[in-house]
Parts: sequence; structure tokens; C-alpha cells
Amino acid sequence: MSRRRLTAPAFRALKGTRKAVCLTAYDVLTAAALDEAGVDLLLVGDSLGNVVLGHDTTLPVTLDDMVAHARAVMRAEPRALVVADMPFLTYHVSPEETLRNAGRLVQEAGVDAVKLEGGRKRLPHVRALLDAEIPVMGHLGLTPQSVNRFGGYKVQGRDDDAVRELVDDATALAEAGVFSLVLEGMPAPAAERVTAAIPVPTIGIGAGAGCDGQVLVTPDLLGMTPGVPKFVRRYETFRERAVDAARRYAEDVRSGAFPSAEESYEP
Ligand code: KIV
Repeated sequence: MSRRRLTAPAFRALKGTRKAVCLTAYDVLTAAALDEAGVDLLLVGDSLGNVVLGHDTTLPVTLDDMVAHARAVMRAEPRALVVADMPFLTYHVSPEETLRNAGRLVQEAGVDAVKLEGGRKRLPHVRALLDAEIPVMGHLGLTPQSVNRFGGYKVQGRDDDAVRELVDDATALAEAGVFSLVLEGMPAPAAERVTAAIPVPTIGIGAGAGCDGQVLVTPDLLGMTPGVPKFVRRYETFRERAVDAARRYAEDVRSGAFPSAEESYEP
């Protein structure tokens, strides 16, 4: 490693000092670009399933998929903290299996921390990781791996009881020792209540401006994905630009304008 990486404790200490900036990354070139921009945390998210592998949900993503893409991200030697998602069924069976699976992400890919979805019912699994010195990021709210139980991608925490459940889950995770918590798909007041209740940074996605930081799925931010949810702000129009570039290339190849003499090797 050529540069000092931001650590999980240093990331946790951002709470109350400044907003934490987080984005997803799945490959070396994107990771390098985001790191150059000064992003604090790169999440090798299991959104990989949707935005890279072409699945409808995150459920088919395997641990092997995550290890391969996390390794690619680590090859960028980022300064940012790198967190890898634990995919569906890799942390549900037992604490022992959870630890073995997270161990692959740490040992084979070299990530700094792992993220898993769910609240109090995941505590034994979270504790097994923390006991083995693996930093853990939690994830509550519209957790995409619960899509079938929710009956779709439905905003969570809409009534008082649901917000109380979120606060209780967040408090239990923070007391167990997670260094940060993603809050996804909930009304801003719900996320604000969770954020005020716990001493670790909350990172929002579709959870309003009151969180301690924000995360977006990078292909959404770059304008590569069709039909983004309403909470996404697109900062680029990469899909249109890629289509345009490929069209211009095709025209040049067909007309013989590419390659030119300068773009060819001399004899
Ligand atoms: O997989 C992912 O990209 C995520 C973010 C949406 C937080 O978990």
C-alpha cells in the first residue's frame, strides 16, 4: 500500500465534524477516479448485481462475485476506506459461517470492513465479526436483500412504531460496535431520529439531508442507469455520452477515418 488509508475508527470519528462522502465502486478505474476526487468511503456494494451483472435484484450476487470486484477496487490502492457488502445468505446461517465468509473479503480481497443488512436479529453475526476484529457497517431501512419480504422496494419507517423499531435496531447495532450505519429508503424525519440516537455516523441513501453522510450508487450518479429513483441526483450523462462516442467511432471506422496514419505504427 503506497498511501495511508482512512481507517474505520477515523471514519467513525467524522460524526459531528463534517459530512462523510461515500460512493459505490466495483472496478479499478472507477475506484481510482473516485479516490482522486477525495471520496471518504468506497463501498463495493452488492448493487453490483443490478448495475454491473444485470440482475433484477441483489439476491443472485455471490461471495465469489464480491471477492473478485473487491479485489479490483483494492488494486486502485485507494486512500478511501473500502467496505464490501456481504451478499445474501452469507451472513444468515450462523455466526461461524458469517465469520468465514467475511474473512474471505478481508483476506482474499483486502477490504477494511464489511457491511451487512438488518438490525437486532443480526446481532450474533455482527458480534462474531467484531470479536474477530473485522469492522462492521450496518444497514437499516429499505434493505434491498429483503425485497421479497417487503413485497417490493418500499420506503420504510413511515409510522411512529416503525421509526421506534429503526431507532432500537440502530441503538443495538451501535452498542454492539458497528462503526457506521447506512440508512436507506426512509422519510427524512425517521433518519434524523436515528442519527440523533446513535454515536456513529449514519450514511443516508434516499433518507434525506439529516444523516451524517451520503452514499449513492455511482452508475446512478454518472447517469449510466435508466430510470433512477427520485432521490438520485445525476451529475453526469455518461450513457448518452457513451452512445454518442460509440456512434462517432462507428462512423469513423466505416468511413475509413479511423485509424489515421498517426494512429498506426510506422514500418
Ligand atoms: O449495494 C449497495 O450499493 C448499497 C448502497 C445502496 C448503500 O448497499
